[in-house]
Amino acid sequence: MEYKNLFSPITLRGVTFPNRILRTAMVCGLATEDGHVTDDLKARYRREAKGGMGSIVVEAAVVLPSRSSYNLRISDDSFTDELKGLVDAIRDVNPETKVGVQIMHFLKLARSGWRQKVSDFKPEDLPVIVQQHADAARRVLTAGFDFIELHNAHAYTLSSFLSMSNERKDDYGGPLKNRMRLPTEVYKAVRAVVGDHYPLGVRINGEDFAIPGTTLLQSVKIAQKFAELGADYISVSAGNRFEDAPPPPEGMPPDAMSGYSGKRLSPGWWFPDGTHVYLAEGVRKAVRGAGFETPIVTAGKIRTPKLAEEILKEGKADIIGLCRPLLCDPDWPMKAKEGRAKDIVQCTACNWCLEADARMEKVNCSRWPEGNLIAPSPFTKKEARASALSKDAEPA
Ligand SMILES: Cc1cc2nc3c(=O)[nH]c(=O)nc-3n(C[C@H](O)[C@H](O)[C@H](O)COP(=O)(O)O)c2cc1C
Repeated sequence: MEYKNLFSPITLRGVTFPNRILRTAMVCGLATEDGHVTDDLKARYRREAKGGMGSIVVEAAVVLPSRSSYNLRISDDSFTDELKGLVDAIRDVNPETKVGVQIMHFLKLARSGWRQKVSDFKPEDLPVIVQQHADAARRVLTAGFDFIELHNAHAYTLSSFLSMSNERKDDYGGPLKNRMRLPTEVYKAVRAVVGDHYPLGVRINGEDFAIPGTTLLQSVKIAQKFAELGADYISVSAGNRFEDAPPPPEGMPPDAMSGYSGKRLSPGWWFPDGTHVYLAEGVRKAVRGAGFETPIVTAGKIRTPKLAEEILKEGKADIIGLCRPLLCDPDWPMKAKEGRAKDIVQCTACNWCLEADARMEKVNCSRWPEGNLIAPSPFTKKEARASALSKDAEPA
């Protein structure tokens, strides 16, 4: 076996992920405008699961009742059955892959340019946020997901409490001890719901890449705290903060993806491969240094099994997060396992997918045939070339 580390299993609280490939969360615009599961959404996840990743984190599902167009919702019990339908549909094509979901609380935005800040929450709002996560966790269990990922990264609420940009003057702002308070309360409340035998992962930013923002210096401490709390993995992401985003065009809400921080979320073609591995490595070293064996997930332009294997072998991370590479070619894991890595249709990091997400359109891949909402099956380089040529042939 060429990629021995990549295809070794890992067990989190008794749940075995059959390999080290974790499909990181990707909002895909295939939910309905009010957040319901659709057949297209199911087809997307089924196509991906068929390719053999060890685990998949279903895209950020919203825990609060506020409007958030095309984001999957888990904000009341009426969503539970359809989420169960999604889990069953994924398991039906691949019973091995472990299916998790990312649960997320967001800060509100308005077309006037207004953006909610953590300092806008009144003290009495904070227990509500905690309860919304706990209620969502209960629905996750009923829906039958194998694990939960708490969204503590990017521009969302918990990340914004953790960030150096948190300007609260009370016990929830200021020093790190205070900035950790709400994420800790959420972690504990969710753990109380899921119990001690259920994997609960956390996604954090290794760097915000914004001023003022969290740097690796703080994120290693955040990671140590989550490790101490018992998090079952720490997924290290980056960027996607609003602080350095340019003012939006007239009548458009602020866009966290528009500044440099936004560009770090899904590193484009001009960034080196393995862009954020050093952040995961730094976090891992600190977590190990504090005496915890918590698995660390790295993601960000890891396009080849060779690079993924090297990262694991060199002890820079324990799990490889892939998002765009699996959107592009969901058979990436299977091709790598079967010694056909050269047949992988490689993600070009063009960010066609990310730009569709920013426009609130259905996310697809520039390498697929025009109009496809899932990768062809099988998907070959020949087919990718043919679809590129047919697109070039279209009149301007
Ligand atoms: C269209 C799109 C949607 C994304 N949605 C999420 C999300 O819901 N939650 C999240 O934590 N990250 C999200 N991400 C970030 C990815 O999970 C991943 O961290 C990033 O793309 C870098 O990994 P990659 O190079 O393998 O794509 C999204 C990325 C893209 C391209």
